[in-house]
Amino acid sequence: MARFQQSESIKRLPDQFFAKLVNKIEPYYQAGYDMINLGQGNPDQPTPDHIIEALQTSATNPIHHKYPPFRGHTFLKKAIADYYKREYDVDLDPEKEVTVLFGAKAGLVEVSQCLLNQGDTVLVPDPGYPDYESGIAIAGANQYKMPLKKENDFLPDYDSISQNVLEQAKLMFLNYPNNPTAGIATKEFFEETVELGEKTGCCIVHDFAYGSIGFDGKKPISFLQTKGAKEVGVEMYTLSKTYNMAGWRVGFALGNEEVIEALNLIQDHYYCGMFGGIQEAAASALNGPQDCVHELTALYEDRRNAFITKLNDHGFNVDLPKGSFFSWLPVPEGYTSEEYAELLIEKAHVIVAPGNGFGETGEGFVRVGLNCEKERLLEAADRMIHLHENHL
Ligand SMILES: Cc1ncc(COP(=O)(O)O)c(C=O)c1O
Repeated sequence: MARFQQSESIKRLPDQFFAKLVNKIEPYYQAGYDMINLGQGNPDQPTPDHIIEALQTSATNPIHHKYPPFRGHTFLKKAIADYYKREYDVDLDPEKEVTVLFGAKAGLVEVSQCLLNQGDTVLVPDPGYPDYESGIAIAGANQYKMPLKKENDFLPDYDSISQNVLEQAKLMFLNYPNNPTAGIATKEFFEETVELGEKTGCCIVHDFAYGSIGFDGKKPISFLQTKGAKEVGVEMYTLSKTYNMAGWRVGFALGNEEVIEALNLIQDHYYCGMFGGIQEAAASALNGPQDCVHELTALYEDRRNAFITKLNDHGFNVDLPKGSFFSWLPVPEGYTSEEYAELLIEKAHVIVAPGNGFGETGEGFVRVGLNCEKERLLEAADRMIHLHENHL
């Protein structure tokens, strides 16, 4: 019997599906197998030098050794507003329409605490990034899953959701380029989303974590580029993927003034602001040369082309991802996502993420991360081809 009982909100937190996978692969590592891990979403490249140097210099500035401002330095909020103007032609008031987050993950959890009460309805993508559920669970709200199907280009079909649910929903999470399906949003889809938000009062939260990674010369669009978007919601942006800064924990929420104020308020209570040196380095990433971003996208595109082409040349049927650094592979007939992932671990020593871990509609797929060297991806493809030719 535990001495201390966890609170009801903690008890509501969902199980970490992928913790199970970690337990499964551990014995293979211990036995010394050459495992290729394509199951994670961790960028494999280093942070560009000029950003690291900015941190090194700013770390010595005594101003940053004191408490930072609660709501982020103005120079950083201005840098992100300028970045959105340059990259997307979106106007943002740095003080009222921008806030600094400890990574997008923090904002994605906090926004539910800011806007939801027990029993409220939230629309979430299925499959989707699991952390949306965390904040919803803490708030005690209910999820309504919006299936993302291949036949709809992995966009939710609002017409298939009952009017009742649409009118009840307080919040909706969207994410394009999408983790895990690699789908991308269209201008028309975002227009339809704004219209829905205007009609129902539902707050739209667009997670733009992979905003900088679009392939075939097509830059992913920001939700805030849609007319009226700022009235109905916010976008979450992060430096994690754009500049390989996942360990630095820097993200932003942008858009609707009331939502930004609510996020600022909750953060006033949780934190005392981000280390100023990191804020300076983050500003230098946004204000500095963007060649590193273009080079990174080209690197992922090259890996994508090599990996998928090889599989498809050997009878696989995988769509070329349009954005993000994931590919979404259909599993062979007769296997569930988990069975196929286990088979890949056992027989090919390749680790992928089973699609059902991202939601029921993810069943029938596995997610492959393109975040390892091309040679290793080609080696993984070889092993998968060998498995299909000899064991299936
Ligand atoms: C869809 C999606 N949103 C948000 C995040 C979290 O980003 P951050 O590192 O800024 O917390 C991730 C990270 O993997 C992600 O895949």
